[in-house]
Amino acid sequence: MKNLDEKYMRMCFTLAKRGKNKVAPNPMVGCVVLDKNGNIVSKGYHKKYGQNHAERDALLKLKNKEANGGTIYVNLEPCSHYGKTPPCVDLVIEHKPARVVIGMKDVNPKVDGISKLKAAGIQVDFVLEKEAEFLNRRFIKTMTKKLPYVVLKTASTMDGKIAAKTGSSKWITSEKSRELVYKMRREFDCILTSSNTVIADNPSMSQTKWRCVLDKDLRTDKNSKIYSQSNTYIASRQNTPLKNGELDLEAVLRELYKLGIYSVFVECGGTLAGALLKDGLVDEIYQFIAPKILNDNNGISCFNGDNINEISEAKNLKIYEVKYLNPDILIKAALSSF
Ligand SMILES: NC(=O)c1ccc[n+]([C@@H]2O[C@H](COP(=O)([O-])OP(=O)(O)OC[C@H]3O[C@@H](n4cnc5c(N)ncnc54)[C@H](OP(=O)(O)O)[C@@H]3O)[C@@H](O)[C@H]2O)c1
Repeated sequence: MKNLDEKYMRMCFTLAKRGKNKVAPNPMVGCVVLDKNGNIVSKGYHKKYGQNHAERDALLKLKNKEANGGTIYVNLEPCSHYGKTPPCVDLVIEHKPARVVIGMKDVNPKVDGISKLKAAGIQVDFVLEKEAEFLNRRFIKTMTKKLPYVVLKTASTMDGKIAAKTGSSKWITSEKSRELVYKMRREFDCILTSSNTVIADNPSMSQTKWRCVLDKDLRTDKNSKIYSQSNTYIASRQNTPLKNGELDLEAVLRELYKLGIYSVFVECGGTLAGALLKDGLVDEIYQFIAPKILNDNNGISCFNGDNINEISEAKNLKIYEVKYLNPDILIKAALSSF
């Protein structure tokens, strides 16, 4: 039973991923329906924000109540409240399955589908909970913290340098890696960068709906390429509180959340990257590493901002993907406890 449950839950994950970049701030959800003989009779997924949830998508395809006495697999607890669509749990109960297998409990406090299922006499089981939570880590962060999910990208030498001491940095990584960065940007609502990076590199960062420049004293040139795009938010001392003399980074992220920005891709130098890390505001790091060694302690580090004496104080991450891009590598690592 456990192996079969895992097999169908993985099928739900695959279906759920079809909604990637289309459902935020909602979670990605997939659903597989089995009849009482264990045959798949329907599948569904949440396709777009505001549209049917996965259970509704799957169950509305059934013509003859084939789920009666069967099993419904879904990677997130069915909702029990009226949102943009009616509660899925009522539709699930109407179809009278014997069992519902869930990946993770919904972190939305309005949702209590599990109690309703149990009260209707339906057996509820959980499977692959950690994987289900990892799949919807962006949703969990935004729902529980009311802050966007933050991924910090950096490109460094093997000794963790993003530039020589003179600031010379073009190029550390290959063209192939840089092209991948352009593609990655599309998976986020906003790119966040700094005054220093705008002044040094004059990037256009046009691939996202929003851009945010941290520029406390409005030092950047208004003719910089990034300002030729619409939806560029400048955080300065005029609209943001200060913390230890610098812009309060959490306040900036809260403001972005209020603008409907649920995911942020940070591209900056070591100062801002270090400050974001120190304030515990980073969820993941995408680190491109080129097969180069600068071999100079005065070179500029990709993360700089703490004063640490003990190695035990280092931040611990979990690497969940490593890609060989020939000649560079890309490491994707999460700081949260997934
Ligand atoms: N290799 C890479 O992946 C990569 C990516 C991007 C950039 N870069 C390079 O990085 C270099 C710039 O690095 P950098 O270290 O000088 O600058 P940075 O880390 O990009 O930005 C630092 C600036 O951010 C602003 N900031 C706002 N709030 C802050 C806070 N709470 N704490 C700290 N800073 C805050 C400050 O400017 P204000 O006082 O004006 O607000 C500060 O001077 C450029 O040469 C660029 O080419 C490398």
